[in-house]
Amino acid sequence: MEQVRAAITTVGHFLPEDRLTNADLETLVDTSDEWIRTRTGIRERRILKDPAKATSYMATKAAEEVLRKRGISGEEIDLVIVATVTPDMFFPATACIVAANIGAVNAWGYDLSAACSGFLFALSTGARFIESGKHKKVLVIGADKMSSIVDYTDRTTCILFGDGAGAVLLEADSDGYGVIDSIERTDGSQWAALCMLGGGSLNPSSALTIEKKWHFLHQEGPPVFKAAVKGMADVAAEIMEKNNLTGDDIRYLVPHQANLRIIDATARRMGVTMDKVMLNIERYGNTTAATIPLCLADWEKDLNKGDNLVLAAFGGGFTWGAIYVKWAYDGEGV
Ligand code: ACO
Repeated sequence: MEQVRAAITTVGHFLPEDRLTNADLETLVDTSDEWIRTRTGIRERRILKDPAKATSYMATKAAEEVLRKRGISGEEIDLVIVATVTPDMFFPATACIVAANIGAVNAWGYDLSAACSGFLFALSTGARFIESGKHKKVLVIGADKMSSIVDYTDRTTCILFGDGAGAVLLEADSDGYGVIDSIERTDGSQWAALCMLGGGSLNPSSALTIEKKWHFLHQEGPPVFKAAVKGMADVAAEIMEKNNLTGDDIRYLVPHQANLRIIDATARRMGVTMDKVMLNIERYGNTTAATIPLCLADWEKDLNKGDNLVLAAFGGGFTWGAIYVKWAYDGEGV
């Protein structure tokens, strides 16, 4: 019998209805649709406007879609992992709130903080619980309400981010499908290039942290760009080499959606043409932990059992990594 692997058996997602277009941003900061499109590939993003709704709301909606599509109840879930940098609050974990919302009364759960690599790290972690035989059904969610930490007077960051959530269900597979391999990396030496300084134990919330705008995401674009291009391409090439894959073997590259130019560089390094790259940055912007599962949700109907996917991400930390997945089902259902 083949070894037990963690197969993705269902995908769910949630996107808020409100759209923030490049034209809208032109009214907020000194920018242009042309600059945003050519430098990033983004045209619009979704924003969760209701101030009473937070990341757990979107994560719950994505999880509910997974349960509905798979025809199971929350009681069957063993573990809920929520990757996010915009948890509802420091504690309790957003995963606890989501688990309660979906009736996952037999599950435990936790949040995972790895910025734009969050979903990738959560998928890798969740897979280990299936492979070890400890759990049968693990819900891995990537969700971020980036609009809650974006400074809409800062043109260098406010054009990039959007809100959304995506979720996958992991179940055991013994036929060679699922998560085949993963590479995860962190390097904290450049943490200050992409961070949110305020509110933690280093700079607890105060009048000063508000005055200095430390409760907003801070990014030094060019050094992050440089590290992202190298990090994402390196790790994608490495996982292909480790698994004897060529560009022809790959059905889709599923990249974190931070910047079209970073994705383009990664695809070229992998020898994968752009028609084999999942791209929705144009419509959603960078939804941080949600980008990869939102791609899977958008492309699910085009996927077939046995398709080779390489998921790749780079984010704050720095964190980065790649996962090789052999897709486990055809179209929209198991
Ligand atoms: N509109 C118009 N001009 C702008 C804007 C804007 N929105 N933003 C910056 N500019 C200007 C700058 O002020 C600068 O002007 P100057 O030359 O007069 O000084 C010029 O455009 C070039 O700015 P750069 O920052 O060098 O532009 P760059 O090509 O690097 O693009 C960007 C900026 C899009 C942010 C890019 O650096 C990037 O994508 N970085 C990586 C993002 C990423 O991968 N993040 C990781 C994931 S996010 C996470 O983990 C939460």
